[in-house]
Amino acid sequence: MKSRRAISLRAHHLPWSSAGNLADNDLTADDVVRETGWVFNNQTGDELTLEAFVETGDKEVRRYIRLLQLESFRFEDSTLLEIGSGIGRMTSSFTNRCNAVIAADVDSAFLERCRQTVARFGRIDRLSTLHVANGKTLGLGNDSVDLTFSYITLQHCQPQDAINLVGEAIRVTRSGGLVVLNFRTWVRSDIALVPLGIAVRRLWKLPVLGRRLARWRWSTRLGWQANRLKPETVLQNFESQLSNVKIFHSVKRKMSVAKARNESVKTMPTKRINPSHWWLVAQVS
Ligand SMILES: C[S@@+](CC[C@H](N)C(=O)[O-])C[C@H]1O[C@@H](n2cnc3c(N)ncnc32)[C@H](O)[C@@H]1O
Repeated sequence: MKSRRAISLRAHHLPWSSAGNLADNDLTADDVVRETGWVFNNQTGDELTLEAFVETGDKEVRRYIRLLQLESFRFEDSTLLEIGSGIGRMTSSFTNRCNAVIAADVDSAFLERCRQTVARFGRIDRLSTLHVANGKTLGLGNDSVDLTFSYITLQHCQPQDAINLVGEAIRVTRSGGLVVLNFRTWVRSDIALVPLGIAVRRLWKLPVLGRRLARWRWSTRLGWQANRLKPETVLQNFESQLSNVKIFHSVKRKMSVAKARNESVKTMPTKRINPSHWWLVAQVS
């Protein structure tokens, strides 16, 4: 399946282009999961299969629909955009639920594999793909979709790219539609992890060695989280474009929003969210 891919040289894109390079060859779908699956669901092993990988995605889709109180959303009538689809771990599940799905990713080889995954486990007739070549803008018109979803993706973008993508998510979602976006925020261990991440991303820029390093799991796991965003930061930029704003977060974390926002923004502590994560669930005004 070798193809010529335009590959971004920005350091925070390197782990994806390295995994994308592995996916951009003649490996079987199961082999791609064994080689690169850990970048999506953190599981490694010689026994992994695409089927089991997609099951983890389907389980998470069901889990987050419950946890984020999305049961009443009419998925079956909707077009859903997934920012950071990877090789389709959750995308298949979305195509089985929605009228149409747009899978968007910074890596075009992932999108090719995503199409194959959906062809086997989802509804390929409902899928289209969108290459986010610059990592920050979406080549879609205003009001194109009913729901924009993104999971464990915005944390991997440079802060300004992540903010840009939130703006893009709001722009392309119709008025009255939903944005359901997952972020990573500060935890205590970040005192060590953030500087280490910056150092590792610098190493990735070294000629030859850098690209090799970006393929190794330990280095990837240290360097790939390129930002931490607090709810306040995101709300400051976009609150005026949103209504019914809910911030879902771990009960183990206090996630305050400014007093002025107490009326319009609900914080929703839950036991089942990682303390370093939070979700923005909101209606586009
Ligand atoms: C950890 S994976 C998660 C994939 C998928 N959401 C899942 O849970 O299996 C992050 C994905 O985001 C993509 N990604 C990273 N930066 C991106 C950006 N700026 N724009 C679009 N996709 C991006 C990566 O290529 C990768 O497929």
